[in-house]
Amino acid sequence: MAPRKIIIDTDPGQDDAVAILLALASPDDLDVLGVTAVAGNVPLPLTQKNARIVCELAGMPETKVFSGCDAPISRKLVTAEHVHGKTGLDGPQMADPTMPLQDQHAVDFIIDTLRDHNAGTVTLCPLGPLTNIATAFEKAPDIVGKVQEIVLMGGGFFEGGNITPAAEFNIYVDPEAAKIVFDAGAPITMMPLDVTHQALTTQARVDAFRNLGTPVGDMVAAWTDFFERFDKEKYGSEGAPLHDPCVIAYLIQPELFEGRHINVEIETSSELTLGMTVADWWRVSDRPPNATFMRQIDADGFFALLADRLARL
Ligand code: BDR
Ligand code: CA
Repeated sequence: MAPRKIIIDTDPGQDDAVAILLALASPDDLDVLGVTAVAGNVPLPLTQKNARIVCELAGMPETKVFSGCDAPISRKLVTAEHVHGKTGLDGPQMADPTMPLQDQHAVDFIIDTLRDHNAGTVTLCPLGPLTNIATAFEKAPDIVGKVQEIVLMGGGFFEGGNITPAAEFNIYVDPEAAKIVFDAGAPITMMPLDVTHQALTTQARVDAFRNLGTPVGDMVAAWTDFFERFDKEKYGSEGAPLHDPCVIAYLIQPELFEGRHINVEIETSSELTLGMTVADWWRVSDRPPNATFMRQIDADGFFALLADRLARL
């Protein structure tokens, strides 16, 4: 089967970085048409730079990286340096990238790519706030019907939130964008905190990355060590959740995940629950299903896939 064509929309972020590496390490499964940066974990000048650092680390400087929206649709940007560090990719010092940033705006790249391809052949993989995707849908509504699937990291329901008690970071940062995307009608598969909080970087799993004995393995282990310090303290767990690579792993090995096709609505007005993904898991409303809400992951299988693929870089 031909590799599946994807656009990775991202705000790197150490876990975004691992997701990009996993995709670039899997050319038989995935054809990365472009990486589009958005403001999120850190401001846009850093996320677009970090995206290029990661492509260079993968040995693929020919990857097309685009810069997108620098702020949420109608709110002030909230960032997460408390998790990812000042640069967004804190850990070992990394050289500035030398590969170019594409001239085209990320939103226009998303629009043109969907228009240039047959319907149902391009998958969007948002790993950050949904600002770029929502802006593209608003600017060019004709592309919504052409999307094969949106597989995103965001939201949470049974696990609660990680930036407020009710909201997960990516949705909280731009809830208006999330609402546009969830209301658009394109098929959505979501990896909420309910899944990613099971994908924990235990010592043995981090050692497996380090034991690859490659620059990529060393870097992934070091990044993981960095953001673990914050998350381990917060959750009192034996490792930190490796959120964003769940999206890419799903595209490669969907059988690692289990969920339900249900209705998910985005809260955009409540002060207390802004950015909450209200998931009708028990189908108690008559609102139509609009997303496959994943709830279970085979975490050992996920980390085995990661180690196997990262070894190829
Ligand atoms: C999400 O927020 C970011 O900090 C991570 O990169 C991930 O995309 C988890 O809530
Ligand atoms: Ca992210």
